[in-house]
Amino acid sequence: MSKTDLQQLLLDKIETGLKEIDLPVQPKTLYEPYRYALSAGGKRIRPMLTLLACGLCEGNPEDALPAALAVEILHNFTLVHDDIMDSADTRRGEPSVFKKWSENIAILSGDVMFADAYKKLSYYGHSDEYSKHEFAAMHDVFVKAIITVCEGQALDMEFVERLNVSHEEYIQMIAGKTAALLSGALEMGAISAHSTNQKRKELAELGYEMGIAFQIQDDLLDATADPEKFGKRPGGDIFEGKKTYLTILALERANSAQATLIEETLDQEKPNDEQVDQVLSIMKELNVLSDVADEVEQHYQKAFQLLNKFRTSDYQQELEKLLIFLQNRDH
Ligand code: IPE
Ligand code: IPE
Ligand code: MG
Ligand code: MG
Ligand code: MG
Repeated sequence: MSKTDLQQLLLDKIETGLKEIDLPVQPKTLYEPYRYALSAGGKRIRPMLTLLACGLCEGNPEDALPAALAVEILHNFTLVHDDIMDSADTRRGEPSVFKKWSENIAILSGDVMFADAYKKLSYYGHSDEYSKHEFAAMHDVFVKAIITVCEGQALDMEFVERLNVSHEEYIQMIAGKTAALLSGALEMGAISAHSTNQKRKELAELGYEMGIAFQIQDDLLDATADPEKFGKRPGGDIFEGKKTYLTILALERANSAQATLIEETLDQEKPNDEQVDQVLSIMKELNVLSDVADEVEQHYQKAFQLLNKFRTSDYQQELEKLLIFLQNRDH
């Protein structure tokens, strides 16, 4: 089977699995937003990581499907709540759930998605193929990822209220809000393949580097991407006063007039488009955008190095292709 066929096959399994989630019709305000959040548009990176990690650890990716679906449902739940926290009106080019319905509806449908993600994991408790220990390990990795994502999201919000955020604090925040779930997705795939602790650890580390690269890139795309492709408002992070790798680097390099402009814009409740554009042009002037792109590249290189520790297989090559796709992504 060619590698492209393998990728398509795994993606089909994910999409079919998501479509087959059997949701009641009523109450409509609970389940319609759930279906809407999960419908097409997502890149499905995390469930793909789970299936690939299982294959990489010599398991059958079919066995990783419940974990992959749990991870993707959880991810979409975090996005539903994240858009409320970030006052983000669009997601994947469509109105975000709270915009289309209401905040209360988005909170509650997010809650049911969260519970449903857990439901998928009980497969490993009921199946004779998995020991009590493996089921507990799967559960522990999932719970740890969720708690770490919440911690990262809390820091993300706390940092909006602060002007000085260090590189270390920023990395700690994105390690939580983004890298933890990519890491967990890979580790869960390894557990579903009954893998050794050593492989689990290596995959978790790979997920960390990938996740750091992925979030710094998300920050960069937030400032630079084509809104049609990215599906979100350009400069959204600056409007919201988010502390990102871009703002941290820009503030380090700015002269006092530039620093004042950046700080005032980030601090303001509702900055205007002109202020946001000015901040973006200062970032360009100070080579922030190109240096942030280099930082992204360094983390992807670390991820490639970690991947090279694994024996060459179709799954190893497919994961390499996924990393290359992410490296070059524009959405
Ligand atoms: C968005 O993740 C949230 C971040 C952690 C940056 P993705 O870019 O993977 O979102 P979808 O699922 O593909 O839309
Ligand atoms: C999202 O980070 C992280 C989680 C949802 C946990 P962002 O707020 O940067 O993600 P986008 O840009 O809205 O997708
Ligand atoms: Mg957001
Ligand atoms: Mg956010
Ligand atoms: Mg973002």
